[in-house]
Amino acid sequence: MPRFKTILVTGGAGYIGSHCVVDLLNAGHDVIAIDNFANAVCDEEGSPALKRAQQITGKKIVFYEADLLNKPQINDIFDKHPIDCVIHFAALKAVGESMQQPLLYYQNNLLGMLNLLEIMRNHECYQMVFSSSCTVYGEPEYLPITETHPTGSITNVYGRTKYFIEEMLKDLSAADEKWNIISLRYFNPVGAHPSGLIGEDPTKEFTNLMPFMAQVALGKKPVLTVFGNDYNTPDGTGIRDYIHVMDLASGHVAALNYLGSNQVGLKVYNLGTGRGVSVKELVEVFERVTETKIPLKYVDRRLGDITAMWADATLAREELGWSTKLTIEEMCTDFWRWQTMNPDGYPKKSKKTSVIVNGNS
Ligand code: NAD
Ligand code: WQD
Repeated sequence: MPRFKTILVTGGAGYIGSHCVVDLLNAGHDVIAIDNFANAVCDEEGSPALKRAQQITGKKIVFYEADLLNKPQINDIFDKHPIDCVIHFAALKAVGESMQQPLLYYQNNLLGMLNLLEIMRNHECYQMVFSSSCTVYGEPEYLPITETHPTGSITNVYGRTKYFIEEMLKDLSAADEKWNIISLRYFNPVGAHPSGLIGEDPTKEFTNLMPFMAQVALGKKPVLTVFGNDYNTPDGTGIRDYIHVMDLASGHVAALNYLGSNQVGLKVYNLGTGRGVSVKELVEVFERVTETKIPLKYVDRRLGDITAMWADATLAREELGWSTKLTIEEMCTDFWRWQTMNPDGYPKKSKKTSVIVNGNS
């Protein structure tokens, strides 16, 4: 029996949230998920991703279509359910959009978090796992990046929302020792659940490498544009620490277990593999395991891109007892399985079934 029984998952219909819900259910937690569908597919019953998470696990999820900016709505959910801990995924995350619409990002990500924290405090729920990002480190001063690397020198608004929230959490945990928060700095999540039933299907435009590459492999886009081959890296292309989304999910279960038996105030952990992979390497592995050919076009570097970044994930291994298990090959195979089984993503409309428990009704 897990120490925290009922977990509120904000942004649960999204990419990482829906995968994490599978691991939470498998670990014996009860899940209340909320999402406003700003970047997730919905149908007339709720979230097809969460419906499939139920299918994978054979367990029920309570789902609310709710917006963190709507305080009464969120407050009602806390009134109705005895929430032990919150995993806070809900945020807007498109770097380009954040530069064009900074107010939207500051309002959604910062105000959403403030509302949530206030409601949590009012309900005496002080346990939280927060989705942070390696983007808080900016251009690395050294590699691999440890959690003590300086943060804050960030070139985009989205990244600054993560940085500002971490600073806020520091103040909060310093002011009241009841708070018990883990901030997980994800590196580059890719892949999908091995069943091929759930995966990444954003409603907003996306620019990340793996989903774009898969679209090219499917023939939906003609060519993969490689942003720069003149970086100071062995093959000239950018290097990142790609992490399988199921490894990332298990990192959240490990963080929950740790919070259940330790009072940490605020603690930060990198979630990455500890291994850097270049754009060219990732394309080569993807082509090999999927038996496809990806036409490439080399163009100038993308503005704001970092040359190379990978994690030192020692702290998570030593303290949370967590480390990644899945390889780059598995990341590519699983993502491809999801894409080929669902070339148009989740069905946007489906017949009514009683599989999902809609907490709104
Ligand atoms: P996602 O867009 O798939 O999921 C986020 C979900 O939050 C979406 O379903 C969206 O509809 C929902 N949401 C946004 N604002 C909301 C609001 N005000 N109220 C309710 N729901 C709201 O993104 P993801 O890739 O699953 O990312 C999850 C979290 O991890 C985000 O906080 C993101 O910033 C962070 N993160 C993601 C990556 C990545 O590369 N995917 C890397 C590092 C950190
Ligand atoms: C990876 C590599 C590109 C697309 C983003 C966010 C960051 C964090 C993780 C949330 C880079 C290259 C990409 C393409 C390419 N997310 N590339 N052609 O830039 O590491 O980070 O996701 O917190 O905040 O900015 O990820 O997948 O966009 O790029 O050559 O069409 O692939 O230049 O080297 P990135 P990415």
